[in-house]
Amino acid sequence: MKNNLSNIKKAIKYLDKNQCIGIPTETVYGIAANAYSSVATSKIYRLKKRPKNNPLIVHYFNLELLKKDCEINKIFLKLYKKFSPGPISYILKLKRNSLISKNVTNGKKTLAVRFPSHPITRNLLKRLNYPLAAPSANISTKISPVSKKDVKDEFGKNLEFILDGDQSKIGIESTIVNIVKKPQVLRLGGISKEQIKKCLNLNLIYKKKTKAIYPGQGKTHYSPYIKLRLNTKNVNKNEALILINKRKNRSKNYFYLSKNKNLKEAAKNLYKTLRIIKKRKFKSIAVEKIPNNGFGEVINDRLKRASYFK
Ligand code: TXA
Ligand code: MG
Repeated sequence: MKNNLSNIKKAIKYLDKNQCIGIPTETVYGIAANAYSSVATSKIYRLKKRPKNNPLIVHYFNLELLKKDCEINKIFLKLYKKFSPGPISYILKLKRNSLISKNVTNGKKTLAVRFPSHPITRNLLKRLNYPLAAPSANISTKISPVSKKDVKDEFGKNLEFILDGDQSKIGIESTIVNIVKKPQVLRLGGISKEQIKKCLNLNLIYKKKTKAIYPGQGKTHYSPYIKLRLNTKNVNKNEALILINKRKNRSKNYFYLSKNKNLKEAAKNLYKTLRIIKKRKFKSIAVEKIPNNGFGEVINDRLKRASYFK
């Protein structure tokens, strides 16, 4: 991990010139640009091939800076004190006089915000006088990146600079909770529904099958662009098998997310493993049944969306 000042300064140079850069976070790597600049944020959409109507998450260093752009409420403060910085994003009301570029919100009156805990990105955010819009650093609908090398795989020479922060510790995106009205989880992620419920002592809405309001929550996402079948024990020729239980025999087709059903470890290894399987050119992927609790629920959510690719 290269948390040295010269890299941070280099990053700032690119950002100040309205360029995009890759940044590490504890969830997944992001492709970042000045959230106050229309020029900079339009580049994110272009590089990611992201539909213009899919709004971006904005990354802040702390509460004071956020208050310039968003209305905050009691529920937000409770969650913020407990979970931020960390793997949770909040949907808040945008202030009228906010400087956030219209590209970020697609003209909507709400904003997704997050306070990443990764020390390098915190060091960077502390030194900037604008927040960073940063969606996951993958081409739209593809697998999210969890290392500098993954980001390179996605963008090649189109992205000049990526801050190196080792492999993302959580390896799966932040939980998104809408707290503009009654608290509702829009995306499962690094903080569980149960943790949020316990903190708020309130009912929490989560609809697994809601029609996607935003493209990012829709079908076919997190996809290696290989056919994927779920809940199976058997593997075909030229097929990769994703496992969380150790098997007695060995096979070049076996890929372990964990060898002892550790679901947190499995979540961390999910995107990395999908990327390896893709590189080895398997024709399809089979996945062992994964228990639907804790991080297992998040893994199943991502695999289900990846499996819509036919
Ligand atoms: O962990 C993360 O959240 C990573 C790291 C880089 O911070 N970022 C990330 O961003 O996952 P992205 O753009 O890949 O996913 C953000 C999701 C999208 O599905 C988008 O539709 C949704 O957040 N979103 C953004 N603004 C929103 C809003 N105002 N209301 C509802 N959903 C929103
Ligand atoms: Mg994404």
